[in-house]
Amino acid sequence: MKIFLRSFGCQMNKLDSNLVVNSFLQGGFEFTEEVGEADVVLVNTCSVRNHAEERVLSLLGHMKHIRKTNPKLIVAVFGCMAQRLKEDLLNHPVVNIVCGPMQIPELPRLVNGAIENTKKQKAVSENIRQKAESEILSTLDDFEQDFDSVEENLPAQAYVRVMHGCNNFCSYCVVPYVRGPEVSRPAEKIITQIKKLTDAGVKQVTLLGQTVNSYKTEKLSFADLLYAVSKIEGVEWIKFVTCYPRNFDERIFQAIIDLPKVCRYLHIPAQSGSDRILKAMNRGYTCEEYLEIINKAKEIVPDIAVAGDFIVGFPGESDEDFRKSAELIEKAQYKNSYIFKYSPRPGTRADEKLADDVPNEIKKQRNIELLAVQEKISEEINKTFVGKTVKVLVDGTSKKGHLDSANGKELPQLIGRTAGDFIVVFDGPANLAGQFVDVNITRASALTLFGEKK
Ligand code: 5AD
Ligand code: SF4
Repeated sequence: MKIFLRSFGCQMNKLDSNLVVNSFLQGGFEFTEEVGEADVVLVNTCSVRNHAEERVLSLLGHMKHIRKTNPKLIVAVFGCMAQRLKEDLLNHPVVNIVCGPMQIPELPRLVNGAIENTKKQKAVSENIRQKAESEILSTLDDFEQDFDSVEENLPAQAYVRVMHGCNNFCSYCVVPYVRGPEVSRPAEKIITQIKKLTDAGVKQVTLLGQTVNSYKTEKLSFADLLYAVSKIEGVEWIKFVTCYPRNFDERIFQAIIDLPKVCRYLHIPAQSGSDRILKAMNRGYTCEEYLEIINKAKEIVPDIAVAGDFIVGFPGESDEDFRKSAELIEKAQYKNSYIFKYSPRPGTRADEKLADDVPNEIKKQRNIELLAVQEKISEEINKTFVGKTVKVLVDGTSKKGHLDSANGKELPQLIGRTAGDFIVVFDGPANLAGQFVDVNITRASALTLFGEKK
């Protein structure tokens, strides 16, 4: 039996897809890159913006044609969109299986069921905001431990979930409704899992959570977890995403200073620089309070690299509000920012209470403008690396061509990241993938540092 998998969305989804792949491999399935030769199509979906859902629907439309030549094709949709739409997605003519993100351990059983009898199969949380039964959570924990592995395309790197869900209810965000309430995973399980990963050659672990700095169990806070993970032999770099800029425990910054393995990188979305919009977004902080956290981080860890997220065109966003976001980018001096156009999500408070009143043309324009402000700062920050040597963990060969072309087959262009998450491109042998390399930086653009292997 051959499976074709498509995965949309964030790091959390990539991790889920990786677990699902490994569980099917163990179940005797094979994977194919050719949808035409697949018996089963798995689609991991994202609901964070409408565009992500549209892409899934268009893929499902394409599956209708494939089904014509292969009537037995099984199509399973899992992840956030499956949880959001439940039956509505199951009623889609091409879909056989709908499976929520909390139910992914059941996917192999559902697929086998669909292969045996052609009945549609569904596994989703009926009441997603109710804390999942401990049995479901421990099944998920075991699934995580059993099937986590080195990332397929990133040798020596692995993602480890430290918490599920979110309780923040930012007014625009669908995550609390599709990933459920915040639950921190037991530290012992996380540690055992990381030890297993390092035994398999992992050097960098990225701890994942929607609001990773709020990690809390009876025994440990997130800072404690960083100390515990740091003790694991074989772990060389520890990264963590994403932080939430409220109730920030300063001991996390202290841990970054104390622990050389913890990377000096913080992804801490602001979403807007306008207090009025932040309030309407239900973010729970003002622009000033946000900046205080960033400044505190920089005071304790002077060379920390900070990345942000912004939404443009949130309901009611005036030119003045928008200008404040641009000002915040200047003040925070982000190394990079991810900028999104507001997309109303059904079921969220912003969608129910506020009109999506910023025209798409203006959203587009603000997106471009904010990117330009950020690009200038990114370039300035990147230029400070020219003439310096940085340590890079190599991802592999670069898929797309960069400023320079590679120096031939023996020395293709390699791409990797520094501890501060800066992207570095340089020529070197492909077998350096998964290795740490010192690179002299010779040139910098807004997105990339270019250099030569030392
Ligand atoms: N519209 C646009 N962007 C959104 N994000 C989350 N929800 C929405 C939405 N409805 C952005 C936020 C978040 C990132 C993952 O996606 O910036 O940090
Ligand atoms: Fe969504 Fe806000 Fe939770 Fe992030 S913190 S996942 S933006 S609700």
